[in-house]
Amino acid sequence: MQLILLLLSCHVASAAIHSLKHVYTASSEVPNFPEFVAVVFVDGFQTEHYSSITKTTVPTQAWMSRVTADDPEYWKRQTSYWEGQEQIGRVNIEIGKERFNRTEGIHVIQVLNGCEWDDETVEVNGFGLISHNGEDVLILDMKAQRWIAIKPQFLRTQHKWNNDKSWLEFMEHRLTQECPVRLKNSLMYGKSTLQRTELPRMSLLQKTPWSPVSCHATGFYPDRALMFWSRDGEELHEHVVHGELLYNHDGTFQMSVDLNLSLVKRDDWWRYDCVFQLSAVEDNILTKLDPAVIRTNWVEKPSATTLPITLSAVVAVVSILTLATGVTVYKKKKAKSPSDSPDNVELSEKLKPET
Ligand SMILES: *[C@@H]1O[C@H](CO)[C@@H](O)[C@H](O)[C@H]1NC(C)=O
Ligand SMILES: *[C@@H]1O[C@H](CO)[C@@H](O)[C@H](O)[C@H]1NC(C)=O
Repeated sequence: MQLILLLLSCHVASAAIHSLKHVYTASSEVPNFPEFVAVVFVDGFQTEHYSSITKTTVPTQAWMSRVTADDPEYWKRQTSYWEGQEQIGRVNIEIGKERFNRTEGIHVIQVLNGCEWDDETVEVNGFGLISHNGEDVLILDMKAQRWIAIKPQFLRTQHKWNNDKSWLEFMEHRLTQECPVRLKNSLMYGKSTLQRTELPRMSLLQKTPWSPVSCHATGFYPDRALMFWSRDGEELHEHVVHGELLYNHDGTFQMSVDLNLSLVKRDDWWRYDCVFQLSAVEDNILTKLDPAVIRTNWVEKPSATTLPITLSAVVAVVSILTLATGVTVYKKKKAKSPSDSPDNVELSEKLKPET
């Protein structure tokens, strides 16, 4: 699941790159989690879902249902494909237990593969990555048509897979020829969602009068955005701290940039602007550094009239910050690495599609 979160951050602030990603997770002894879960993401949106509990592949975006009109067998075909992968996943978990000499406890194998397509340069990239218990163990170098073991324990697997030239060519075809076609189709179905632009709501937040002023933008889409502070129209690089790009639950994004005010004279405030730029949108959004619009929860001497207003501001600020930390997409938890060198060619089956 860490992998899934990581993926969502993959094309942050890059050019017009679209992606189709398959992620599947085979696991054992993970409480309240199915033994096998497969999900597909298009531009970071989950578009379909299969699990060993439901035994069926369903669209998870309304627009993805439109595929049925062009390809009536699509969902049935996906279901039988994932059912096959589920069987292989179960076998792999058992093999993993045996090879790692550890029958007890949690085993999780995750496979990520897919493609990226740059709609400006029309460049296509295929990728593949396998992890065991949260650690990446094998990565596909599509251009060189070979697998690279990230963990030395997997060198033997690397050699074995790299000697299977016909499988490598098959993978390349699937990831760099078939995948981009599916990706472009999905983008067409989801055009109104995926290729829209949404402008953010801007706010200036400050904890205390001595704290940096945080310029916060939320609700924008896509994630190809730039944000900075300027003085007299010139971008500032000093006394500025850029926050992470965060993912909102509704599929939009948020971001912030802090300005340390300790060296800014009060008379000069009007010279400062927070600038937000969204790709494909010509006009920048400027937010003037204005004490009147800064929201804060800091109160010198609370009085009966200001308290209710201030409290609601506190709640607003706190809920924004909680949301921000709750869905940070950059974290990747590390787990223990496997201790053996498995000859697990069966893992390769997990990347093989239906024929
Ligand atoms: C597997 O683990 C057991 C118990 O820890 C140990 O006695 C045995 O030697 C191990 N086998 C291998 C092949 O490492
Ligand atoms: C702001 O800048 C001042 C002066 O450079 C520095 O002492 C202070 O620690 C900075 N504050 C923050 C929150 O970074």
